[in-house]
Amino acid sequence: MESGSRRKIFAANWKMNLSAAKAEQFIQEMLSLDLPSDIQVLVFPPALYLQRLSELTANSQIEIGAQNIYWERSGAYTGEISAPMIDEAGAKFVICGHSERRHIFGESSEMVTRKAGAAQDEGIVPLICIGETLEERNAGETLEVLQSDTLSSLAAVDPDPELIIAYEPVWAIGTGLTATPEDAEKSISYIREQVRSIWGDLADKIRILYGGSVNADNIAELIACPNVDGALIGGASLNPDSFMEIIRNGTK
Ligand code: PGA
Repeated sequence: MESGSRRKIFAANWKMNLSAAKAEQFIQEMLSLDLPSDIQVLVFPPALYLQRLSELTANSQIEIGAQNIYWERSGAYTGEISAPMIDEAGAKFVICGHSERRHIFGESSEMVTRKAGAAQDEGIVPLICIGETLEERNAGETLEVLQSDTLSSLAAVDPDPELIIAYEPVWAIGTGLTATPEDAEKSISYIREQVRSIWGDLADKIRILYGGSVNADNIAELIACPNVDGALIGGASLNPDSFMEIIRNGTK
C-alpha cells in the first residue's frame, strides 16, 4: 500500500486543560470552518466532556476520543473509566499509554496493551503511544526501546479492524524540542518494521503519527515524510486558530 493511501490524521490531545465552556466553544468554532475532506480530525478532551462533544460533533468530520481507559468492563476500580462507558459517551477512539500515563502514572506496556485490547473489544479504536526518553536516546537505546515497546504494547491487539500508533519521543513532549523529520521518519519506519514482523503487510495499512512539540511551523516537513501519517498535538491544539493553522500547513 502506498503511503499516500493512508489518510492523514490530525489529533488534538487536550490533556487536563480547558473548561467545559471553552471546550464547547472550540468545537463550535471548528465546526464552522471548512476542513480538508481527505483528512481525519480527532479531538481527545478530558473525559467529563466526551458525551457533550460527541453530541456536538455527530455527523461532522471531527471525531472524539478519550485520553485513557481501564481494561475491566465494570467493578470496584475507583476513578477508572471502562470501554462500555466510553462507547456510551459516543467516543470512538482512545489514547493508550501516552508517555504521561507511562511516566507519571506508572503504566507499563503490559497495561497499555490490555487497555488497547479492551477498547478494540468494544469497537473503540486505540491510539497507542510509544517513544524513548532522553536518557534512553542519549544512551543510544532508541531503536531497542522502540522495538520492545512496540511489540509488548501490541501484544493484545488486532491489526484489523483498526489501530493507530503514535511515535512520541518523551524528550520532545511539551518541551519545544521536536524530532527532526529525518529522526521522526527513521523511528516511525522502524516501528512499522516491527509491526511488519508480527502482522506482515498489514503494517502498510496502519497509521503511525508523530507527536512532540508539533506546531504550525514544523508540521509541513514532518508530515512530508513518507512514513509519517499525521500528528498528535498537545500544547498547540489548545486553541482552534493554532490547531487549524497546523491542519492548513499540514495539508498544503
Ligand atoms: P505537545 O504534546 O504537542 O505539547 O508536545 C504532545 C502530546 O503529548 O501528545
